[in-house]
Amino acid sequence: MHTFVLKLKTAQSRIVVGEGASGRLRALLGEEGMDGPFLVVSQPRIATAIDMPRLRDSSVALVPDGERAKTLRTVERLLDRMLELGMTRQSTVVAVGGGVVGDVAGFAGSLFLRGVSVVQVPTTLLAQVDSSVGGKTGVNHRRGKNLIGSFHQPRLVVADPRLLATLPDRDYRSGLYETLKYGVIRDRVLFRIFERRSGAIRARNPVLIEDLVRRSVAIKARVVAADEREGDLRRILNFGHTIGHAIEAALRYRAIRHGEAVGHGMIGAARIASGMGLLDDAERLRIEAAVGSIGRLPAIARLSSEALLDAMRHDKKVRDGRLHFVLPERIGAVQVRADVPVRLVRSVLRGLGAA
Ligand SMILES: NC(=O)c1ccc[n+]([C@@H]2O[C@H](COP(=O)([O-])OP(=O)(O)OC[C@H]3O[C@@H](n4cnc5c(N)ncnc54)[C@H](O)[C@@H]3O)[C@@H](O)[C@H]2O)c1
Ligand SMILES: [Zn+2]
Repeated sequence: MHTFVLKLKTAQSRIVVGEGASGRLRALLGEEGMDGPFLVVSQPRIATAIDMPRLRDSSVALVPDGERAKTLRTVERLLDRMLELGMTRQSTVVAVGGGVVGDVAGFAGSLFLRGVSVVQVPTTLLAQVDSSVGGKTGVNHRRGKNLIGSFHQPRLVVADPRLLATLPDRDYRSGLYETLKYGVIRDRVLFRIFERRSGAIRARNPVLIEDLVRRSVAIKARVVAADEREGDLRRILNFGHTIGHAIEAALRYRAIRHGEAVGHGMIGAARIASGMGLLDDAERLRIEAAVGSIGRLPAIARLSSEALLDAMRHDKKVRDGRLHFVLPERIGAVQVRADVPVRLVRSVLRGLGAA
């Protein structure tokens, strides 16, 4: 078991990573001074797939499955429930699920009585390596993804790779793309694990998964500690996301998983970097091969490069009307650039298969 402490100006988050860690949830909550009442937020599918944590003085609220349930309406229902249960400032929201559960439960926790303690027990690989750490919470609006939300650090995150055993293959792979991202931006060793042990990763070797989660969490925690509110440094976590978000938006969040869109986006960013003379071709090919080793990405031939460019311009990350790209200089180091020529982006999008 490995513990990280994420120290921020106004909050502190303890992140515990390890096989079997979720079995110690009660003790870990106690060590943090959280002894209930608890509202455990999850989804029906998860409640049947895994052993839900058993906590004294707790109630369970299940939210519907899927990105479409990540709405203010769902948050409002959670708040209704918390009021009905008579929850107080001393109460704790425990999110047991993937990024969707974590985001809605975290947001509800940040709003209830102006904010109560939130604990994240991530059950998808994506949530373990990314969304459960860092305190971003929120919901979608019909005008776009994650447009309404808050920063509210979880007091405790318990990432137990054992909980991933029941995860469908496609969701597991989706999380792997997001994991590989950390290798490209900051960790050559992590990247090499993908190159050398891709078979064992696909076979879900538990020791390897724990190592990948631990390395990813270490990087995310370090980056967030240095830049909680996404000034500059935190933006490196968006490697692959400029194109990735555009693909998701253009497909209206259907037919593609977030991680898969990021997979396309990482290849695109590597090609842009090499087109700008930042990244040499051998490293670009390594990045493309590592993305490819995770599995086949869904085709994006239905999308036009113009529609994707349009979606990029509407992304909330656009600053002063300029597109920002996180571009690798080599494996393990990236820079944020706002001077990528549109025609290069367009030709890279076509190379990825867009019309
Ligand atoms: N807050 C952040 O910093 C942040 C970062 C990245 C992504 N996100 C958000 O995360 C969301 C995506 O999260 P996700 O990929 O985890 O998807 P998800 O939460 O929709 O989970 C995917 C599916 O797996 C099921 N599931 C979860 N755990 C399971 C398990 N152990 N066994 C069987 N089934 C299980 C879920 O019920 C769901 O059907 C997006 O909404 C994205 O915006 C947030
Ligand atoms: Zn992501």
